[in-house]
Amino acid sequence: MSVPVLAVDRLVKRFGGRTAVDGLSFQIQRGEAVGLLGPNGAGKTTTLSLLVGLLTPDAGTVAIHGMALQGDTDPVKRHIGLATQELALYEELTAMDNLGFFGSLYGLRGDALAQACRRVLEFAGLADRAQEPVKGFSGGMKRRLNLAVALLHDPDLLLLDEPTVGVDPQSRNALLESIEDLRRQGKTIVYTTHYMEEVERLCERVIVVDHGRILADARVADLKVQASGGIQLRVGLAAGHQVEARKWLTEITGVSAIETVSDGLQLLLSQVAVAGRVLELLERREIPVLSLATRQPSLEDVFLQLTGRTLRD
Ligand SMILES: Nc1ncnc2c1ncn2[C@@H]1O[C@H](COP(=O)(O)OP(=O)(O)OP(=O)(O)O)[C@@H](O)[C@H]1O
Ligand SMILES: [Mg+2]
Repeated sequence: MSVPVLAVDRLVKRFGGRTAVDGLSFQIQRGEAVGLLGPNGAGKTTTLSLLVGLLTPDAGTVAIHGMALQGDTDPVKRHIGLATQELALYEELTAMDNLGFFGSLYGLRGDALAQACRRVLEFAGLADRAQEPVKGFSGGMKRRLNLAVALLHDPDLLLLDEPTVGVDPQSRNALLESIEDLRRQGKTIVYTTHYMEEVERLCERVIVVDHGRILADARVADLKVQASGGIQLRVGLAAGHQVEARKWLTEITGVSAIETVSDGLQLLLSQVAVAGRVLELLERREIPVLSLATRQPSLEDVFLQLTGRTLRD
């Protein structure tokens, strides 16, 4: 396997007596988009700060492209773009001057800097507001500019800490499209959010943390099957057939649970192929089936099951 873009090994961070990050280990391969999820205070932002050297770990290591990260000034940081949860912008400066300032910190000058500024302003949908002071921007516009700053030096690893908070639905959609575009360009993305629909759209893998520890690190699809204990199958039946159908279906191997619902039965199957046997049996017993649908639990269900908490306060 190739060298991972990011390798985190037994990372620990304490604030006084509180352990915010408690022995995290994970690796991220080139081109992956991974959701870093967890309830408020789980340790997500602290983890991202450790990944860019803004915080120093009490134990453990971070390696970017196989190179150990040594603090905030390490040149290996050029590979990383962090869009912080707390906005990091100068209110008195215009959008363009903010970008100019942060771009120069990354060593961009002259034409290269001007070009980078134009590119990220376009990305953030702020090209027409470039010359206005940030203090006159709406919350969503500031959020978009904050993300633009992280992209100035064209990093290949993006750490996005709740990049769509306070962004209206339309701009959010435009932002998500742009992020999908970055993915298609081959960028590696670590994405923190409390919006599950964004994770479903952008990430094929999620790392769920709470109390600074990993509760799950898996592909979204696998996690859903694992969380529900199987495949959920909803069988729509004509009125009055539930009791009888239920009696027959308990005989099928691979049906691990049956629940009566308003329009029929809800089954839990060990695998999707069992659905065929369900249909066959009901046909044989002359019980009319009106509809048949598998249902995956939502990521929100999975999250609740893992953490015992909902994603939002
Ligand atoms: N600078 C700090 N000093 C003291 N404690 C801190 C500091 N930064 C974070 N913490 C604590 O570390 C824990 C993890 O915080 P962190 O900001 O990483 O959570 P989070 O998962 O990003 O939460 P949220 O979803 O609310 O952004 C919390 O208990 C928090 O109070
Ligand atoms: Mg946070």
